[in-house]
Amino acid sequence: MAAQSVKGFKDILPPESERTAAFEALSRRVLEAFGFRELRLPTVESQELFVKATGETTDIVEKEMFVLTDAGGRHLALRPEGTPGAVRAFLQHNLNLQGGRTKLYYVGSMFRAERPQAGRFREFEQIGAEAFGNAHPSADVESILALTRILDEAGLKGRTTVHLNNLGCERPECRPAFRSRLLDFLRSTVSDLCDNCKRRVDRNPLRALDCKGDGPRLKEDPKTPRLEPCAECRAHFDTVLTLLPAGGVAPQLDSSLVRGLDYYTRTVFEIRSSAIGSQDALAGGGRYDGLIKSMGGPDVPATGWALGVERVLMALAAAGAQPRPPHPDVYVAVQAESPELEKAAFTAMQLLRGSWRVEGALFGHSLKSQMREADRLGASVAVIFGQSEFSEGKCTVKDLREKDLQSQTTIAELERAVRNRLTP
Ligand code: HAM
Repeated sequence: MAAQSVKGFKDILPPESERTAAFEALSRRVLEAFGFRELRLPTVESQELFVKATGETTDIVEKEMFVLTDAGGRHLALRPEGTPGAVRAFLQHNLNLQGGRTKLYYVGSMFRAERPQAGRFREFEQIGAEAFGNAHPSADVESILALTRILDEAGLKGRTTVHLNNLGCERPECRPAFRSRLLDFLRSTVSDLCDNCKRRVDRNPLRALDCKGDGPRLKEDPKTPRLEPCAECRAHFDTVLTLLPAGGVAPQLDSSLVRGLDYYTRTVFEIRSSAIGSQDALAGGGRYDGLIKSMGGPDVPATGWALGVERVLMALAAAGAQPRPPHPDVYVAVQAESPELEKAAFTAMQLLRGSWRVEGALFGHSLKSQMREADRLGASVAVIFGQSEFSEGKCTVKDLREKDLQSQTTIAELERAVRNRLTP
């Protein structure tokens, strides 16, 4: 049998590759309009970076990292997410010393050894945005607005829901107090918990809130303790809620949204689409004010998110909102096999490719089969070189969208004639 790709790793063929590129271009444009600048991160980092930043008890670190050892015995990992690398780069290159805010975005593959299923791959693409240095709730809001704007402009306006929660902070009266009330509650119900939650109840009790295992649905249980945020966290979150509608975002508050990564504080969010099955999160993120300090850096607040490109494209397909794949504007054909005509066709193609997408040069085939190809590719206009008109310095420009519109032009005027046809 011929070679096959590895399970969970996929080829991205046209037109999907073109849809991916178009969505990336739109995302870059919106992120740059919001003042984010591109950070290109390495694919491989030290394994320890993710253990420290993503969190020892997260599924990602416990079960999903692709780990490798290099010839020097160093433990490396294929990045499962971009945030730890972005923080490492921020510290390594002293970006905090530039003062003020640093807003960075990244585009690239992430790797998680999860069980492959619809919308869940072992290599998938994320577009992520991280804003360092602004503790004010406006940074959370601006970050969310950049994300919702990308999804809206892509064609998902009105087709997603924004889920929001406040996870509080590490002040004793805030999350630690909640964690200990939750822990007491979980210990009293431990026999009902799923095996995963039982195992990590002491180390990471918050995860039990969004457990998808076969234990009780704690989020629906009115007895489940809820976070009572400290005054600062409450005020911070209230401002987020006040400012979000300015960008047209009406979030759903969801106290069970805890996210699968350990570094979050205060505002966390997910954007979901019900059209793509059980893996319904298109994007997720939140504030992580303690992470930079915990990684040996200064006390710099931060907030960010990442979206899953494959899942966004699935949601666009489900909504029938996929961009039309690119098609040639111009198809250049020759009427007969002749080096003179073929040369002229190549010269014309070189010229026209300065402005348009051009296909053609299917030499050695009848004009009929060349025109069949032009139709199949969805070309808008054909340029045909025929012997007798060529000897008069002319060729034919034919509108393929309106079958009988065709005219002769001099070769010197070809570019203008094509432009006249293509511009409405
Ligand atoms: P995350 O929620 O783990 O967050 O991933 C973000 C998005 O990546 C998900 O909402 C989903 O669309 C996509 N995704 C995750 N795993 C897979 C998979 N196996 N296959 C396909 N798509 C997937 C983060 O990664 C954080 N770093 C986000 C962040 C940035 N928080 C702050 N800054």
